[in-house]
Amino acid sequence: MASEVRKLNSIKVISSAQKESTAADKMDFYDKWAENYDTDVAILEFRAPGLAADSVAASFTGDRGAALVLDVACGTGLAAIQMKKHGFEHFVGVDGSKGMLELAKNTGLYEDVRHCMLGDDELPVQWVRVTKELCKATKPGGLVCITTRNGQNNAEYTASLEQQLKLMEEEGLWSCVNVTEVKKFQRAVSEHEEAYLSGSVCLFRVSDVDQ
Ligand SMILES: C[S@@+](CC[C@H](N)C(=O)[O-])C[C@H]1O[C@@H](n2cnc3c(N)ncnc32)[C@H](O)[C@@H]1O
Repeated sequence: MASEVRKLNSIKVISSAQKESTAADKMDFYDKWAENYDTDVAILEFRAPGLAADSVAASFTGDRGAALVLDVACGTGLAAIQMKKHGFEHFVGVDGSKGMLELAKNTGLYEDVRHCMLGDDELPVQWVRVTKELCKATKPGGLVCITTRNGQNNAEYTASLEQQLKLMEEEGLWSCVNVTEVKKFQRAVSEHEEAYLSGSVCLFRVSDVDQ
């Protein structure tokens, strides 16, 4: 328990360092974090990979063994590990951190892993920009799952994300299948927050329209 507390404290330090950084600094941060990422997120009780996999599995009606899953910001591959448990077999991972991608590749689960900086590079599929890109990269009728943690640090981000997701629904690009609010999404890393941060798991079904 003492070592866990020490570890959580060190995660707090690296997390607050991350807050201040530019996109390049963030990727540097993730490169350096990659080696300890799986251990640290286990301590943080980070539930996003499992929640995302459960959400997709609950609404996916096709052939799981044949479906191709694009794991965007795949990190070390935790979401693919969870989805594999639900019977999904084909994964392509993209991430802006080469360190993270190397570990994702080592899981042996991904047919391809590509370095891709969201917001800068195009995803290695046809395109527009980030959330619209996710929609565009998905087959008509396919599912897009987006998880986000709440908290003081990213209130602005989650508000603009929500607005963008809603706008895309109004534009008929996709429809919301469900939004699940999760109270204990992960343990908090800031002294000023509750012990746990809440989060959301949003699932959309892409429309059959020419985007
Ligand atoms: C918190 S980790 C989540 C990783 C994985 N999805 C999981 O659930 O464990 C965030 C990941 O997003 C990647 N990332 C953050 N911003 C990015 C960007 N703009 N473009 C590409 N990847 C990015 C990081 O490199 C990191 O691997």
